[in-house]
Amino acid sequence: MQIYSAPMEGVTAAPWRRAHNEVFGGVDKYFAPFFSPTREHVMPPRVRRELLPANNPGFTLVPQLLCRDPDDFVWAAREIFGMGYGEVNLNLGCPSGTVAAKGKGAGFLAFPDELDAFFGRVFSELPGAKISVKTRLGVEEPGEFERLLDIFARWPISELTVHPRVRRDMYRGGTREGYFQAALRRMPCPVCYNGDLFTAAAAGRAAGRYPGARALMLGRGLAADPALARETAGGGRASREELERFHALVWEGCVRDFGAAGAAVPRMKELWSYMICLFEPCKPLYKQLAQSKRAGDYLAAAGNILSSVPLKPDGGYEGAGA
Ligand SMILES: Cc1cc2nc3c(=O)[nH]c(=O)nc-3n(C[C@H](O)[C@H](O)[C@H](O)COP(=O)(O)O)c2cc1C
Repeated sequence: MQIYSAPMEGVTAAPWRRAHNEVFGGVDKYFAPFFSPTREHVMPPRVRRELLPANNPGFTLVPQLLCRDPDDFVWAAREIFGMGYGEVNLNLGCPSGTVAAKGKGAGFLAFPDELDAFFGRVFSELPGAKISVKTRLGVEEPGEFERLLDIFARWPISELTVHPRVRRDMYRGGTREGYFQAALRRMPCPVCYNGDLFTAAAAGRAAGRYPGARALMLGRGLAADPALARETAGGGRASREELERFHALVWEGCVRDFGAAGAAVPRMKELWSYMICLFEPCKPLYKQLAQSKRAGDYLAAAGNILSSVPLKPDGGYEGAGA
């Protein structure tokens, strides 16, 4: 069973991926957070920098597009293939209100006929291209998935990742496992499971439940515990030294890629909202980190946690703000 790193806007950008691959590894494919192409058909320098192969060395990266217009998708996919990538992923899972209101991400699932026509156009313009899809089960209720599977199965999608929740669920409630089984039965292409795999034990149980799946995709669990992919393959927990090195590399990468230490601080705090789960409760120190604004204050607070707070012996992500 392969392990994929889920795209997480604001968390798993190039600096995180480089540091993760160097210190922890265990990931077969990293998915980049989405790029939403506009009518102007211009790739902003920030996006180009994020996707440049030179900024993502030594691992497999799949860029992702959030898009409803087939012409915008075709333009952006050609740009990405032109950069040397072998696969482009379509985001049909983002549940955010502003995205869904435009009929993009999980919002696109409310328009199955338009989605079918979208694929028709994309696959005729890009014959033979490797285009994968990451989806939820529907918008309002999981019964919508059957019709969506009919559509997905009609087109030469290279791989389907399913997060078995509907948009209305956001991240609440359990994942709807039976619907994932339906995707496995129905899809002619490889299928990947994504959702709520926060410990190696949970990933092991999913691998046992879904032997027909090609991969498990880890999101919040991997952001919280960067050794989770390695642990899933029987490897050890993250050590303090590894976490210190990982943190230093992500920090340096953010400062370099975003051009200023000030811009790196909010990114690092977002990452810490997950990683803090690795440490025994340390509210006052975490509060210092969360309230820091200047690079020096941030680095002092992060250094305090990394060097002095005991690591939990087991367990993983427990929810935002844990
Ligand atoms: C902060 C955050 C950012 C995300 N950004 C993206 C994204 O850019 N593209 C995408 O397809 N999914 C995105 N997701 C969804 C994740 O890729 C994943 O599907 C979801 O978190 C469920 O997996 P998990 O339970 O392993 O976290 C995001 C999720 C979170 C929490």
